[in-house]
Amino acid sequence: MRYINILSQTQSGITTITINRPSKLNALNSQTIKELHTAFEMADSDKQTKVIIVTGSGNKAFVAGADISEFADFSVTEGAQLAAQGQALLFDFVANLQTPVIAAVNGFALGGGLELAMAAHFRVASDTAKMGLPEVSLGVIPGYGGTQRLPQLVGKGRAMELIMTAAMIDATKAYEYGLVNHVTTQEELLTLANKIANKIARNSSVAIAGAINAINAGFKDDTNGFDAEISEFGKCFGTADFKEGTQAFLGKRKPVFPGH
Ligand code: COA
Repeated sequence: MRYINILSQTQSGITTITINRPSKLNALNSQTIKELHTAFEMADSDKQTKVIIVTGSGNKAFVAGADISEFADFSVTEGAQLAAQGQALLFDFVANLQTPVIAAVNGFALGGGLELAMAAHFRVASDTAKMGLPEVSLGVIPGYGGTQRLPQLVGKGRAMELIMTAAMIDATKAYEYGLVNHVTTQEELLTLANKIANKIARNSSVAIAGAINAINAGFKDDTNGFDAEISEFGKCFGTADFKEGTQAFLGKRKPVFPGH
């Protein structure tokens, strides 16, 4: 697959998707969102891919937001469509993928950039990263899930303040808030993300998918997280991975999960 604004590379079970518009600080225009959708969809359906890492190219930005030049003249209807389409194509799509997604935040993650990082299942950041939802400084609000995911991750009061002030926080503060799980140097960022990805890749991919579904269910209005957990737990008993995992444990050997 040939992309214009992103790169996608798979190695040893890990697909790294890199947003590659460094001259625009990797801002998400509609072409980039479509390409990201395709790349995430392909990685998720690729049996070789156990974990997806999403990052930005260059050492300045992860993603500096949605591309402001594309929506400056939009009407009310077009604005609502932009948010709805973006959420369906990319942000909700990533959050609900069955393959784990780690965001490696290597610089500015602003607006849609932070929203993309928050849609990932968890985040690691470089010590140079700066994060924020500056939309109200442009006269708009976060539209790619930011008003929902930021309070889920950092709490309502901190989210209210961050969104109202349009402030940027550094990686240390983001770690303190629980927005990112680890902070390291820029040089070490992808090494760290890959190290965590490798640990994940050793486990049962079907069980991980079930865990993602159960965790996500608790954050949705129309589902009960505990009920989802019971259902996903039960499903595990019908998988080859469960048979292999338990037999390997009882046989005192390392499991080799078939992934179904
Ligand atoms: N949309 C479109 N273009 C963007 C962009 C965005 N969200 N963020 C950066 N760019 C472009 C700039 O317009 C500039 O393009 P140009 O060289 O053709 O003029 C290029 O990326 C470099 O950005 P620049 O602003 O010159 O870099 P800087 O180091 O001075 O500032 C930021 C960096 C991140 C502080 C600044 O780019 C910024 O505030 N970006 C917008 C952030 C934002 O509000 N995002 C939320 C959008 S809803």
